[in-house]
Amino acid sequence: MDRFVVRGGRALSGAIPVGGAKNAALPIMAAALLSPATSRARGVPKLNDVETMVRLLEILGARVSRGEHEVVIDASSVNSVTAPYDLVRTMRASFYVLGPLLARFGRARVSLPGGCAWGPRPVDLHIEAMKALGARVSIEHGDVIAEAERLRGAEIVFRIPSVGATGNAMMAACLAQGTTVIENAAREPEMPALAAYLNGMGAKIEGAGTSRILIEGVASLGGGDDAIIPDRIEAGTFLVAGAITRGRVEAVGADPSHLGALMSLLREAGATVETTLRGVAVSMDRRPHAVDVATAVYPGFPTDLQAQIMALLAVSEGTGTVTETIYYDRFTHVPELQRLGADIRLEGNAASVRGVPSLFGARVMSTDIRASAGLILAALVAEGSTAISRIYHIDRGYEAIEEKLRGAGADIRRERET
Ligand code: UD1
Repeated sequence: MDRFVVRGGRALSGAIPVGGAKNAALPIMAAALLSPATSRARGVPKLNDVETMVRLLEILGARVSRGEHEVVIDASSVNSVTAPYDLVRTMRASFYVLGPLLARFGRARVSLPGGCAWGPRPVDLHIEAMKALGARVSIEHGDVIAEAERLRGAEIVFRIPSVGATGNAMMAACLAQGTTVIENAAREPEMPALAAYLNGMGAKIEGAGTSRILIEGVASLGGGDDAIIPDRIEAGTFLVAGAITRGRVEAVGADPSHLGALMSLLREAGATVETTLRGVAVSMDRRPHAVDVATAVYPGFPTDLQAQIMALLAVSEGTGTVTETIYYDRFTHVPELQRLGADIRLEGNAASVRGVPSLFGARVMSTDIRASAGLILAALVAEGSTAISRIYHIDRGYEAIEEKLRGAGADIRRERET
């Protein structure tokens, strides 16, 4: 296993390239299963989660070839509709194959994902959507089994706007007979990105990016070919890195229209945030002001940037509150930040963070993708050296983060854990 060793105290300065969005690439790769043709995606980040999706597609019988940042999927040879526990357990987004397999083959068997380090993450909305489209769904031996001769268009009204369930429903409805309306759909930018990809395959989807999506089913789809949108969470992490180290960072390739909530919050904390020709730049020349933030569905503040913003608050002037409304117990980074000297009190789903003038290097452990990002950010300003173990979590969602941060002057290296 690898670990990161970070020596804190350097102000970051420079341009950091933003890659394609993991959370857009994964459903798009699953969408390739909808068609017997060959599909291609460009700008796909090199991540462990992408490799997991490649393995899953191969287990299903697809032939997948990988370029530097490209994935080509030939789904003509798919001969299994079973997504096994070992893969679904390591990556919840594997559940995205449910809709496409069911719609194209009339049957899918996908293992229940199980819990996360930070609590239960149910799939009831995915199942309800498949049922609304006419599937019979049962759960046997920990697997979800869905069957239907041909799905029928339907009205799907989500209790809450789930990203995964919206994506699964959208993909399944593409091949259903008749029209589907998804109400209270997730509006995250990865949803219009998926819809655009599906429309490129011949689907008829309107309204993605709003809370009402309309899908007119078609009899068959062709191959897709599109570029993946920039990763707003990776971009946001780099912007916080610039602010927390009191430096200047330009996230090159970032789409400012996806980063509104973070940009306002960084401004409120005292940073200068600008849209540039190439992306978004942040600069900060003082200790940040404490701010209050509550995570929310898009366009609200993303839960995937919660740990990073908590690192910023840990060194701010004053006390700020971080309220987590999407995943109530997504706080595994709190005890690790406390090991670095952060003053955080957790009560229910709210963390009260009293900023301290400095953090101090220590040994810490990463627990999930975004929690690890928060730890790296804190380590960049901590006095002395911080060793972050179990960084396979961060490799799931960030491509070569240490090289990218080093490019802007960070002192961070990867080494074998002894
Ligand atoms: C996606 C992202 C993840 C992000 C999350 C919230 C991917 C691959 N992952 O996850 O990085 O943190 O959105 O922005 O895109 N829920 C249910 N029943 C369901 C499904 C979800 O109750 O069937 C609840 C969840 O527990 C959670 C909320 O809905 O409280 C939102 O979850 P959801 O949007 O589905 O997240 P994911 O798609 O799993």
